[in-house]
Amino acid sequence: MLTMQETLQTEFARELHDEFGQILTAVGMMLGRVRRKAAASKSESEEAAMAPFVADLEEAQQITQRTLDRVRKKSRLLHPVILDDFGLQQAVAWYTDEFARQHGIDTRFEPDGELAGLPPDVATHLYRIVQESLTNVARHAEASQVLVRLVRDADGVELTVADDGKGPPPLTPVRGPNEGPGGIGITSMRERAALMGGRFEAGRGPRGGLHVVVWVPLAPPAGPDMASEPGSELSSELSSELGSDRTQ
Ligand SMILES: Nc1ncnc2c1ncn2[C@@H]1O[C@H](COP(=O)(O)OP(=O)(O)OP(=O)(O)O)[C@@H](O)[C@H]1O
Ligand SMILES: [Mg+2]
Repeated sequence: MLTMQETLQTEFARELHDEFGQILTAVGMMLGRVRRKAAASKSESEEAAMAPFVADLEEAQQITQRTLDRVRKKSRLLHPVILDDFGLQQAVAWYTDEFARQHGIDTRFEPDGELAGLPPDVATHLYRIVQESLTNVARHAEASQVLVRLVRDADGVELTVADDGKGPPPLTPVRGPNEGPGGIGITSMRERAALMGGRFEAGRGPRGGLHVVVWVPLAPPAGPDMASEPGSELSSELSSELGSDRTQ
């Protein structure tokens, strides 16, 4: 379901970017040409007569440019073109910078290990998890700092998003330990982890705040030794609130 949704979003994002982007660029250029012609009047009286048209054309050009910017931004959100072009590390660096700027939350990104050449679906799922986790931080955490870590080792890749906010709400008695409070965000992160054959954990960090940790196994570069059980060692405090869970 998530994979189908991702494919549709990718198609839609490309269409939005390419088709509408090109149309709006063409309209903007046309408006610019007409405006320049209208502004290049010979006499003073002609110039005075054209002034309102020139002003309208200038405004129309600005609206077109703003719409173009928004279409590009939306298409980037729907499908991070930056992922295809620059890979997960650059995409997350870009996103965390944007996030820090927009929300005024001190956001650190710590990449570690060889993050180039991850399978495209793994990169997309991890990128989406970063987006959803940070959206949650902005909406729910009241945090002043967030740390995003992405660590690749021989066995897999681990993503951590840890904020220093108020942490997840306590479980209500009607919800079981694996349910967590409502919302699709956490559920879809867990589903994404499962689709990658990985595991997902979310709960209160050792010093408060919410910690989201996703571990994804990746084929080792070489060698038969795949027996180890790597991944995050989350504090035991972390096991409850949001239904920490091992999806394997
Ligand atoms: N970083 C966080 N800090 C504190 N609480 C959080 C954080 N992230 C999530 N939560 C809590 O967990 C709940 C579930 O999160 P989830 O992302 O699943 O849903 P949502 O953000 O409420 O809605 P949706 O993501 O579907 O738009 C949130 O409503 C919030 O109470
Ligand atoms: Mg959410």
